[in-house]
Amino acid sequence: MPRIPLIAGNWKMHTTIGEATALAKAIVAASTDLVDRQVMLAPPFTALAAVADTIRGSNIILGAQNIGWASQGAFTGEISPPMLKDLGCTMAIIGHSERRHIFGETDELINRRVKGAVSQGVIPILCIGEQLEEREADRTMSVLEGQLKGGLQEISIADPNQLVIAYEPVWAIGTGKTASPIQAQEAHKFIRHVLVNLFEKSVASQIRILYGGSVIPDTIGILMDQDDIDGALVGGAALQPGSFSRIMHF
Ligand code: PGA
Repeated sequence: MPRIPLIAGNWKMHTTIGEATALAKAIVAASTDLVDRQVMLAPPFTALAAVADTIRGSNIILGAQNIGWASQGAFTGEISPPMLKDLGCTMAIIGHSERRHIFGETDELINRRVKGAVSQGVIPILCIGEQLEEREADRTMSVLEGQLKGGLQEISIADPNQLVIAYEPVWAIGTGKTASPIQAQEAHKFIRHVLVNLFEKSVASQIRILYGGSVIPDTIGILMDQDDIDGALVGGAALQPGSFSRIMHF
């Protein structure tokens, strides 16, 4: 069974409600002809409700940029899976490198978020990726393996669509340096090999692995041509409707 490509836009800490609405409107208008792929938008929490209204009736999926693990409680600053589902979110980015490296999120914390999402019916997009020093020290694969095993501890899924992985080399995020298609494919192939050790082979072979890190219209085609690249997590270019539209139409 072919894996359905997923193009995800991570708007990070950008857009007011008005800007988010306009951006979502432009993306909806540009996406009407897309039938063989999925598009997800992850606006900031403050714009989720407005974007949910704007995309209603389209095929676009709503995602959050992070997710709490408990359903409710004394967790100041966190947003729970039921709250996100209430807004129409069906996916959540977890463990983005900015959460890991600016906010100190550990594999253990990330694992709690993944567990909370899976158990409460939100699809995690678990982000993993090595830093430049780690790549230069030839530690890329061990870092990826550690982040996958840490983030996915005690997770069992029967349906491959319950989980998405995003490989985002930290040195490629927001820097204009995309991993070469060969580097990306090598990492994705390795990630799938680790997934096969964690889940049933029939499930692991169907889990989508996105590439992220300075994806632009000019690079998406060759990335999507790689065997184990099933989509993209797009930051900067997701804020420009023209660029994002070209990426969606790879
Ligand atoms: P970028 O961000 O496309 O701006 O590099 C990607 C991401 O952080 O998910």
